[in-house]
Amino acid sequence: MTFSCINTAHPSPRSPRLLRLHQSDARAIRIELAAGLLASASSIAPKFLYDALGSRLFAAITELPEYYPTRTEAAIFRTHQNAIAAAMGKGCTLVDLGAGNCEKAASLFDALRPTRYVAIDISADYLADALDYLQFRHPALDLLGIGMDFSTAFNLPDEAGVDACVVFYPGSSIGNFTPQAAEVFLRQVRLAAKGGGLLIGVDLNKPSEILEPAYDDTLGVTAAFNRNMLTVANQLLGANFEVADFRHVAYFNRVESRIEMHLEALRDVSICWPDAAAVSSQVSTQESVRQFRAGERIHTENSYKYTPESFAALMRRAGYTRITKWTDADEWFGVFWADG
Ligand code: TRP
Repeated sequence: MTFSCINTAHPSPRSPRLLRLHQSDARAIRIELAAGLLASASSIAPKFLYDALGSRLFAAITELPEYYPTRTEAAIFRTHQNAIAAAMGKGCTLVDLGAGNCEKAASLFDALRPTRYVAIDISADYLADALDYLQFRHPALDLLGIGMDFSTAFNLPDEAGVDACVVFYPGSSIGNFTPQAAEVFLRQVRLAAKGGGLLIGVDLNKPSEILEPAYDDTLGVTAAFNRNMLTVANQLLGANFEVADFRHVAYFNRVESRIEMHLEALRDVSICWPDAAAVSSQVSTQESVRQFRAGERIHTENSYKYTPESFAALMRRAGYTRITKWTDADEWFGVFWADG
């Protein structure tokens, strides 16, 4: 794996620094995509949802009437911001995982008064724009952006600071891990915070009539977000997906307590791309082919839903002991704080 690091100059006034810790190994990405597609139960990893367009589509999802998590979480933050700030103490370094447009963290700045804000997101370009705007609104704040993929392992680079920090992980993105992987991830987060804390937002279990429209809205924005992955696969792998040949499918799997997202073939299709190994050696013109029968699905994302008790239990398994929780009146969404 190779890393590249671009550190922008420091003109005055402050301009946010941006670190790019991206896997720049295009071959490894092609091999990963190809392996997922060729498996008998085909899949594409959710990180491929968040190219520049995907990040914008996700921001639009958070404004949809059906997508209750963002606004319910924001209302909890608003209602309890003083209690949250009192628990956290002022003047922390706030490390935002999956910062996106940075709006959630920014809305807490007045109450939390962080001295440093470290925004981490897989989409570095999207982050760069968001941070420029944030610096304009908060000229004195020390800002650092880090473009990195933390979906398989989480480690804070030294540039993020060496002291205790508060990790902010809103939006129920933790639900996109399996419970086993979430436990491993939260343990890594606890160690990376070096005795600091974790403020995390988690979507809670509720009837399918509310859950399913949140992942299959009438305007079709979520469908566009999911189907955009096929365009991303075409770009990264050189595949020949026709977006129109697949439809978005989302449903609540109550046994696993998760929303599942799939792309379902509308007709028999034959998808091909240049063989991953051949592209790098440039000696062979071999092709890989994956046939999809009409109705066959590509699994793209899970979004696990917890009860307040099951999530607190997960945090305890990850090593947290002092846990505080805030919810809305309907218990649709939970915000958890732990500092030990
Ligand atoms: N973290 C979000 C969630 O699970 C991600 C998300 C929302 C998502 N809508 C989606 C992922 C649709 C894939 C498809 O709520």
